[in-house]
Amino acid sequence: MSDEHHEAEGDALPPRENLIADGGSAAGADDVTLDPWGSATVSDYRDLFEQFGIEEFDHILDEVPNPHYLMRRGVIFGHRDYSPVAERLREGGDAAVLSGFMPTGDPHIGHKMVFDEIIWHQEQGADAYGLIADLEAHAARGLSWAEIDEHTRSYLLSLLALGFDPEEGELYRQSTNREVQDLAFELGVKANFSEFQAIYGFDGETDVSHMQSVVTQMADILYPQLEEPKPTVIPVGPDQDPHVRLARDLAARMRYFKVTEAFASFEATAEERVLMREAYEQLGGDDADVRCEDAAEHLDQHHAAEVGAERAIEKLANAGKEPLRPRVRFLDRNATPEAFDALIEAVEGEKRVFDEHVDAFDLDHEAAEELSREVEVENGGFGFYPPSSIYHRFMTGLTGGKMSSSVPASHISLLDDPEDGYQKVKSATTGGRETAELQRELGGEADKCPVYELYAYLLAGDDDEFATEVYEECVGGERLCGGCKEQAAELMRDFLEEHQEKRAEMEAVLDDLDLELESPRRG
Ligand code: TRP
Ligand code: SF4
Repeated sequence: MSDEHHEAEGDALPPRENLIADGGSAAGADDVTLDPWGSATVSDYRDLFEQFGIEEFDHILDEVPNPHYLMRRGVIFGHRDYSPVAERLREGGDAAVLSGFMPTGDPHIGHKMVFDEIIWHQEQGADAYGLIADLEAHAARGLSWAEIDEHTRSYLLSLLALGFDPEEGELYRQSTNREVQDLAFELGVKANFSEFQAIYGFDGETDVSHMQSVVTQMADILYPQLEEPKPTVIPVGPDQDPHVRLARDLAARMRYFKVTEAFASFEATAEERVLMREAYEQLGGDDADVRCEDAAEHLDQHHAAEVGAERAIEKLANAGKEPLRPRVRFLDRNATPEAFDALIEAVEGEKRVFDEHVDAFDLDHEAAEELSREVEVENGGFGFYPPSSIYHRFMTGLTGGKMSSSVPASHISLLDDPEDGYQKVKSATTGGRETAELQRELGGEADKCPVYELYAYLLAGDDDEFATEVYEECVGGERLCGGCKEQAAELMRDFLEEHQEKRAEMEAVLDDLDLELESPRRG
């Protein structure tokens, strides 16, 4: 991890970047790649903000009611468009949470984070969905249906044992969800192979079912909105971000109308609109009778060097004496003729109707968005909100490298015998110094310590004070690794014991649910 992270802050918790080891030290010089089917490592989380436009979770933490400890501790580090979901949680409107699990092995403590995120959203009032990505496991990972069945059962037991309420929420397998398949088919109409190539690196060798599993995931992500559109959050690792971006795109492509701002009858880009607003206001705004040609002249005199100015001036000049007036525009994307008529009907106040758009002069943007969704839904459309996402950090492996299901000592499975769990923690690498003496003198390196991560991500649970105490005692040289690991190992043993007991209790609950636990599929 780079030293630029190490700025001091006076928070109750140690500085976030110090509190959490982000795997950077272990991941080495990996470039940032976001590959859903590749190895899930990220060497520097800052690149995700800069290169991919993921936003920092910290910036919206204040908007979240009663935030989960993974949010408070910066384990959930990023998001896309989480505000609408946070708002609904705060104010009590409809929202949903959904995530999916490929049943390729035993559920482990990395999956537990996502289970907890789903459950937390459910507790805050969101409709909750957990799905088993069995089609994806079969197509992209080549698992047999028998293997898939075994793991499916196990994932669901852990999700239930951790507190998922199946009465309130919904669990499903991709392979048995007809509505998801139908939605996938419709979404597939809006996506093509070149795009899959660009996003996922698919090529002529990629099998068709793998591609189908992508549209299936797109349908999973939008499934909570089938009955009624609502802000939906998808908690995942950042490796899934390409899927989230595509889903956001497809959601928009399915919409009947696109709502934009406009100033005159012609189309303008976002940059041109900024200039037009500027001219409009400089020339007297609402109180004046501003004409396009006046705005052209104003821009020519005062803003000619700005981006987009040349085209804006040209367009305005061509429009001559047409009034320049701000308005919201509904562009027809996929609307049926009936829906387009219904929209015209529904727009209140002054409006102008064109072939492929409607301009409304007395609506603000938000009201227009709402109206367009209403009209769409009433006329047979989906009216999807673009799905939101939150991203959690990957845990560092207990052996120092990345946490990998193929290296048992590197991770803790939720099915590990509690004694094995204890032993794995006892044998973990640490951020400790060579000798106890040095440790007392220099303090340990908690931010490079997989054991500290266990405390922060799991063992300290909701108890921030405890997590902070471990951190501060460690870096202050009061805590030595032997005792620290013993404590963590015991907590891990207790956690596994309790979790496995709950899993056993959930067997009956699971069998009572309307789920196909044995797939009749062959192949
Ligand atoms: N692709 C995900 C994985 O690799 C699984 C998945 C399928 C998923 N559908 C989803 C995740 C919908 C989130 C939302 O684990
Ligand atoms: Fe890690 Fe604990 Fe050692 Fe600190 S004292 S380096 S947290 S094992």
